[in-house]
Amino acid sequence: METVALSNGKQMPVIGFGTWKAPSDEITVNAVKTAVECGYTHIDAAAAYHNEMWVGKGIRESGIKREDLFLTSKLWNDDHGYEAALKAFENTAADLGVDYLDLYLIHWPVPVKFHDNYIEKNRETWRAFEELYRAGKVKAIGVSNFKPHHIDEILEVCEIPPMVNQIEFHPSCLQEEIRAYCKEKNIVVEAYSPLANGKAFQCEELKEAAERYGVTVAQLCVKYALQHHTVPLVKSVTKERIQDNLKLDFTISDEDMKAIDAITTCEGSNRDSDYIDF
Ligand SMILES: NC(=O)c1ccc[n+]([C@@H]2O[C@H](COP(=O)([O-])OP(=O)(O)OC[C@H]3O[C@@H](n4cnc5c(N)ncnc54)[C@H](OP(=O)(O)O)[C@@H]3O)[C@@H](O)[C@H]2O)c1
Repeated sequence: METVALSNGKQMPVIGFGTWKAPSDEITVNAVKTAVECGYTHIDAAAAYHNEMWVGKGIRESGIKREDLFLTSKLWNDDHGYEAALKAFENTAADLGVDYLDLYLIHWPVPVKFHDNYIEKNRETWRAFEELYRAGKVKAIGVSNFKPHHIDEILEVCEIPPMVNQIEFHPSCLQEEIRAYCKEKNIVVEAYSPLANGKAFQCEELKEAAERYGVTVAQLCVKYALQHHTVPLVKSVTKERIQDNLKLDFTISDEDMKAIDAITTCEGSNRDSDYIDF
């Protein structure tokens, strides 16, 4: 699979395999094995998905060499702060059964628990991330669901800038301001929920466009995210879908990209990361 270079030179495969809502059982083991067989070398995990042990089992059983895999995890909202973040990393690495991560992200910037002192907490957490990075335990560090002002608050004090921002991105959820900011700061944008968490399949405009290209709505959405220079993270636990979602041998015309940009009916989760309640 093609890769994109992060600001530290680390190469990231341009499509990732999502694991949110993948169950804590053998279904997830098999999904991960199938994904690796089909050519995914980039897996997106998180402590909050409560399935990292199963994702790790799938990785081991797939037989993929550790150095051929790009593995991401995310620090959950309860674990902000310097000591807590270091401990959370150890737990996640143990659950996944690895001794390093390719990318570690702060999952959300303003957890309700730390709402009143979130800037200080993010900075402390980031200091732990920098330490993990220097120790070689994580090969790249970044954030998720961060708006420009959250990133600025880290940049003001950090020694190593965030390399990735993982945000929701799909038709009707274009996040133009955040993407423009990340481009300016040389931060790679990962697109989560590229199929709008399944809502894309109800969208008539997407169905019509997919039909014209002779592809599925899922393939159209993954390609759309790629052509917008984001790194889509696409989730499925269904073998045929896992396979099909990587068949992307077509190009969306400029005219159709604009038409998809204008779709408003494929609504996103509408979460404002300054005001999440978890
Ligand atoms: N950082 C964050 O806060 C955050 C938030 C959300 C997501 N993420 C990451 O991004 C990943 C992807 O986002 P997502 O899980 O929200 O959803 P998604 O990838 O947009 O959509 C997944 C849904 O679409 C279905 N699907 C997949 N391929 C399909 C196909 N070809 N035809 C029909 N249905 C298909 C899946 O069903 P089956 O699985 O049943 O096949 C599942 O219900 C997550 O798994 C996670 O790794 C991160």
